[in-house]
Amino acid sequence: MDNLLLTIDQYKTEINNFTASDTETAETFRIKYLGAKGLIKELMGEMKNVAQENKKSFGQVMNEFKVFAEAKYEALKAATTNNGKAASDEIDLSLPADPLPVGSRHPISLVRNRIVAIFQRLGFAVAEGPEIEYDWHYFTALNLPENHPARDMQDTFYINQNPDWLLRTHTSSVQVREMEKGKLPIRIICPGRVYRNETISARAHCFFHQVEGLYIAENVSFADLKQTLYFFVQEMFGKEVKIRFRPSYFPFTEPSAEMDISCLICGGTGCNVCKHTGWVEILGCGMVHPNLLDNCGIDSNKYTGFAFGMGVERITMLKYQIKDLRLFSENDVRFLKQFTSAI
Ligand code: PHE
Repeated sequence: MDNLLLTIDQYKTEINNFTASDTETAETFRIKYLGAKGLIKELMGEMKNVAQENKKSFGQVMNEFKVFAEAKYEALKAATTNNGKAASDEIDLSLPADPLPVGSRHPISLVRNRIVAIFQRLGFAVAEGPEIEYDWHYFTALNLPENHPARDMQDTFYINQNPDWLLRTHTSSVQVREMEKGKLPIRIICPGRVYRNETISARAHCFFHQVEGLYIAENVSFADLKQTLYFFVQEMFGKEVKIRFRPSYFPFTEPSAEMDISCLICGGTGCNVCKHTGWVEILGCGMVHPNLLDNCGIDSNKYTGFAFGMGVERITMLKYQIKDLRLFSENDVRFLKQFTSAI
């Protein structure tokens, strides 16, 4: 026991004389005296050799020695990290900063913003509406009264809680909301997310995005519709792209048409993307049905209008030659980071 006390006194002197000018040396001190295999652990191991009656006082001496070594270590640490010199050694102010990882916009957002910007230049304002709609805005006002067979044209999701509620399958309901406000003329585009009860595949998804447009004023004609969409296509895809209209049916427009553009991949000569026709469909359109105007309290003898609707995913796929619709919603960073700049 006496021997041990003597040894401890010697170590205390050694510790007192220990100096450190950097953090590594302070760490060496910690390992040597306080570490898992350090001196204090080793001396504690001597406990088993100490006579029973001395165990208590030996424990006290060791505790006090440990506190002493810990205090010294704290002092060494403070001196080496705070002495200015050591700290400034670690920071090289001339080094360039770490680059901040910058995210990129989703390709769907890029293309939607581009579509919106093109129509804004023509004087269209952006209008938005809810994704959960009432029957009225979605069906009845859009010239689809109860039991109309075209209510089944798109696979609608209904909401169990209330049979009057559903998830919109297109943003035409926003047009109704806008017409009901009764402020004329109306020149709006409605970008938004829509839902359809379809099996997910490379070509279909249960949700996607649309931009629909509506123009109502006096003397609006089909020629205005054509010219507006022609302008859009040239701005979006380039001056060399051609358009064609095919007659179609939508309950809310009369006459109705679908618009094709000449295939961007083969330039119209025929390839897989255009199924060897040279044309790809990009949107539905037509002259607003007079019933819609009447439903919304607009004088259909005085006003006429046109409407159109396009899928943002479809335009994006054509623009970037993306073959699988599912890529847009999988959030794979390897895919998403390829679209860093606006097109
Ligand atoms: N709402 C139609 C659709 O989702 C597109 C459309 C809009 C057609 C406006 C004509 C007029 O398919």
